[in-house]
Amino acid sequence: MRKSTSLLFLNIEQMLTLRSSTTGPRRGAQLNELGIIRDGAVLCAGGKIVSVGTTKQALRDPWYRKHKKTIHEVDCSGMVVLPGFVDSHTHPVFAGPRLIDFEERITGATYAEIAEAGGGIRSSLEGVRKTSKSVLTRKVVAAFNEMAAQGTTTVEAKSGYGLSFDSEMKSLEVIRESARQWPGTVVATLLGAHVVPSEFKQKPDEYVTEVCEKMIPQAARRKLAQFVDVFCDKGAFTAEASEKIFAAARKHGLSVRAHMGQLSETKLQPFLKFHPASLDHMDHVSSEDIAHLAKSDTVATFVPGANYFLGHSYPDARRFIAAGVPVALATDYNPGSSPTPSMPFILSLACTQMKMSPAEAIVAGTTNGAWALGLGGAKGSMEPGKDADLAAFRVNDYRELAYWFAANYCDFTVLNGTMLKGSAVNGAR
Ligand code: NIG
Ligand code: FE
Repeated sequence: MRKSTSLLFLNIEQMLTLRSSTTGPRRGAQLNELGIIRDGAVLCAGGKIVSVGTTKQALRDPWYRKHKKTIHEVDCSGMVVLPGFVDSHTHPVFAGPRLIDFEERITGATYAEIAEAGGGIRSSLEGVRKTSKSVLTRKVVAAFNEMAAQGTTTVEAKSGYGLSFDSEMKSLEVIRESARQWPGTVVATLLGAHVVPSEFKQKPDEYVTEVCEKMIPQAARRKLAQFVDVFCDKGAFTAEASEKIFAAARKHGLSVRAHMGQLSETKLQPFLKFHPASLDHMDHVSSEDIAHLAKSDTVATFVPGANYFLGHSYPDARRFIAAGVPVALATDYNPGSSPTPSMPFILSLACTQMKMSPAEAIVAGTTNGAWALGLGGAKGSMEPGKDADLAAFRVNDYRELAYWFAANYCDFTVLNGTMLKGSAVNGAR
């Protein structure tokens, strides 16, 4: 790990600045604008981006000439450099993999059937409830480092495998401690409403009250979460309960986001009045709701890793993009439906399975991910004043980011000015 106050990355083959003349999440044709500079250079100091341009311009810059001796230079010949990925949907606080579910699906059981039979999310609770904070923190930091090794510099992290007041607060404390130990940026989300735990099976309304009247107020008071999420679907929470949870979150000053339309359709319009930063999964959405979304700033976040792993069909990204809905991409890293830390793999799925162009997938995994977390002003593009979050890949062309799969060509990442080595093999191709 290198922590240097000033870093100059130069000779970048393709530098994807993702700068834009507009503000807010990108829609339609804007999703293809990468703002490419060839033979680019970017200067970072004090954890921020100072200047962005060509290598020639950087070397002529008077500030560079004056401070040359104190600047650490990194030669990026043969590399593509872009803003670090913003993975805006992950569930990293869990104790172990769910191998029984995995094998049952292979022999024909569906995600919903496994959940009904007591597997699924509920089978992750015991592990989280009985594992210590320090052990969980070690696992979460390890996951963040794996994400960073593949180009991710900002991660949204949800609780949601404790599902009791104490273990949800413990999960949020684990996220806070992991954020302290990792140089990247972490946005914490309370997902106390992931499913109804078995203790409340006969009284789900009481569990909703527990979320609204205990978990949300405490998470807000202790500033343990910025967002409240709810899994609104068959077998999880009804639209009515989800609205109650959104209202409680807003009442306590927290922003909202939700898992929507993964297994079945829910009418989205009633939720838009709460201004969710993002609605995620979005496999089942009506044309009317797509039109409503297009008029809002709510981002539709696709998590195709879950579709891949569960064998579900993919959301129709082209329909959303054509209607003008801002779309983002995230891993949904979790033990049940998407055990991958890799944003490049998600980009690959978006291109091959959802027919997004490589440029659209990159914008969705950076700029729009940042907007989906309310961080569009600080992250998701390379512009002076923004956070020094970069990902460098040992490839010559940006399209290769989504082209190679189950490979990792990330050479290094820069997280708030701290450089971490990726796991690319030098000269691999
Ligand atoms: O985003 N759908 C709800 N939550 C997760 C899955 C969680 C799990 O199965 O453990 C998701 O896919
Ligand atoms: Fe999820």
